[in-house]
Amino acid sequence: MDMQIKEKRITQDDQEKKITAIDRKMAKLNFREEGLIEVLICAQDTFGFLSKEILNYISKGLHIPLSRVYGVATFYDQFTFEPKGATSSMICTGPSCTIAGGAEVLEEVRIQTGVSASEKYSLDGRYHVHQVSCLGLCDQAPATIVDGKTQVNLKPQDVEAMLKGQAEESHIQVCGEPREMTAHIGKLPPTDISAHLSAGAFGALEKALNSMTPEQVIDEVKESRLTGRGGAGFPTGSKWEFTRKAKGKDKYIVCNFDESEPGTFKDRVLMEGDPFRVIEGMTISAYAAGAENGYIFVRGEYMQATEILESALDELYGEGLLGEDILGHKLKFNVDIRHNAGAYICGEETALFEAVEGKRGNPRRKPPYPTQAGLFGAPTSINNVETFAVVPSLILHGGEWFRQWGTDLSSGLKLFCLSGHVNSPGVVEVPYGLTVRELVEQYGGGFNGIPHAVLIGGAAGGFLHPDNLDVPLTHEDLRELNVPIGSGAVIVFNESVDLWKVIEGLASFFVNECCGQCAPCRLGTRQIFHILQRINYGNFCSGDLHKAKGLGETIKTTCICGLGMTAANPLITYLENFENIHSN
Ligand SMILES: Cc1cc2nc3c(=O)[nH]c(=O)nc-3n(C[C@H](O)[C@H](O)[C@H](O)COP(=O)(O)O)c2cc1C
Repeated sequence: MDMQIKEKRITQDDQEKKITAIDRKMAKLNFREEGLIEVLICAQDTFGFLSKEILNYISKGLHIPLSRVYGVATFYDQFTFEPKGATSSMICTGPSCTIAGGAEVLEEVRIQTGVSASEKYSLDGRYHVHQVSCLGLCDQAPATIVDGKTQVNLKPQDVEAMLKGQAEESHIQVCGEPREMTAHIGKLPPTDISAHLSAGAFGALEKALNSMTPEQVIDEVKESRLTGRGGAGFPTGSKWEFTRKAKGKDKYIVCNFDESEPGTFKDRVLMEGDPFRVIEGMTISAYAAGAENGYIFVRGEYMQATEILESALDELYGEGLLGEDILGHKLKFNVDIRHNAGAYICGEETALFEAVEGKRGNPRRKPPYPTQAGLFGAPTSINNVETFAVVPSLILHGGEWFRQWGTDLSSGLKLFCLSGHVNSPGVVEVPYGLTVRELVEQYGGGFNGIPHAVLIGGAAGGFLHPDNLDVPLTHEDLRELNVPIGSGAVIVFNESVDLWKVIEGLASFFVNECCGQCAPCRLGTRQIFHILQRINYGNFCSGDLHKAKGLGETIKTTCICGLGMTAANPLITYLENFENIHSN
């Protein structure tokens, strides 16, 4: 056969196979509009990018106007509209990666691939380089993902191997005392259901179904004073109760596994290490709230965790621990996975619902609250991965048992994500109330250098002065310093770090991640960023610091969602706790 015809046929066959993959995905999602982001992800994985033809094809397949398909696709950072190149790398320049040499790694990647700072692709089309704000691997910084493979603890001299996928792979680092949520992590294979059942997994669900009414489950959770571990700290028992009491037959349980807060990686460790515990927590929550369907919303970069999760769900359906008549009771609960595609704002609960519904991730105005009208307009109880991971032990041993740790307002055990200038970074499970010094000296191998500042709660968190290293890590103690405990990120900076540069980096993060809906956030984050740039160039004007603080406070009080409300936290807390600049 003529070579040209043969090649053309191969290309055509290949193209048809690729189209079939998209058709299969659309069919799996019943050609419903809400499947849009999943279909776009599948198309990008299959073709490497989203061409006009493919967007058109999806628009027709899902009966969605092309303008809307395009509008959704352009909202999410992971979608590209040009061929990506054979090798695609995401290089983390979050705070922990930057201080560990992430910028130098990025520079070396640019040199070796020929992708300049103003471009994303090399001229020969071989490389795609994407600088990202955090990959959730802060304990193994600097980190990258190359063609889906996570590689960590990099130095510039590792870049050649890294581009071939041959550098150090990531692993789980967890310690602390007592180990409840993390008891099985590193000890049992994460997706071996038999091993987990032998070790007591799903015993709490069995107890709840055999001997407790849904109301008793809610009472036990209320008794424990468990508050959400995703950042806002809302009482979990009340959330479940509101959902149970809300009118509406179809209710949802949502597990927020977006974890895009720079400095936070505990949810990844929980899901990669023991997905069964999280799903058991979700199922108990479904029983309590009266929900039959659940979604796990996974951060797009967490591909390894997705694989583990998919395999865990298969095991659970196989064992009859998900689906109908769970454990021989009239409990029905189905769980599906949905993905983010690179938008930090989609961790916010209502933006997350929009994403699961196949839309741009613009947060909704509240009220109505999710427990009244959440996902698909139905009563929804949404919790963080860690919140669900607490539940099985709490149901087995009781709320009072859980309250033996922590304080009245910060009850129980908590996972902290320790990174930056400490000798042994990783996830630490401890009671609320330890101090940063205790956390670092007892579990983090000690400080690396003289501590200069500690960023608590990530980009939405605040700076703690070294004089406050002995303040207990509780909501109420940190609130005195205007520092939110957030999702539990603890990033230590030693004296070698220029904190103004860190603050500028965080400000740039919010400029990129603001959804654009509220003018104060859209314009204010940008103005703050420009002031910080001026400060770092050394040509700032008198009054700039007060102006930046005023802008931050305006954004905080005028935006509809938590992103705007927290975007200026690092700057404000730095000015207050380090520069002694307070509001009039
Ligand atoms: C910008 C933004 C990002 C957020 N990202 C996350 C996230 O990645 N994971 C999470 O659990 N909660 C996140 N939250 C908080 C959620 O809106 C919500 O409060 C949480 O999922 C509720 O679960 P919890 O009560 O168990 O904490 C975010 C909030 C905001 C404003």
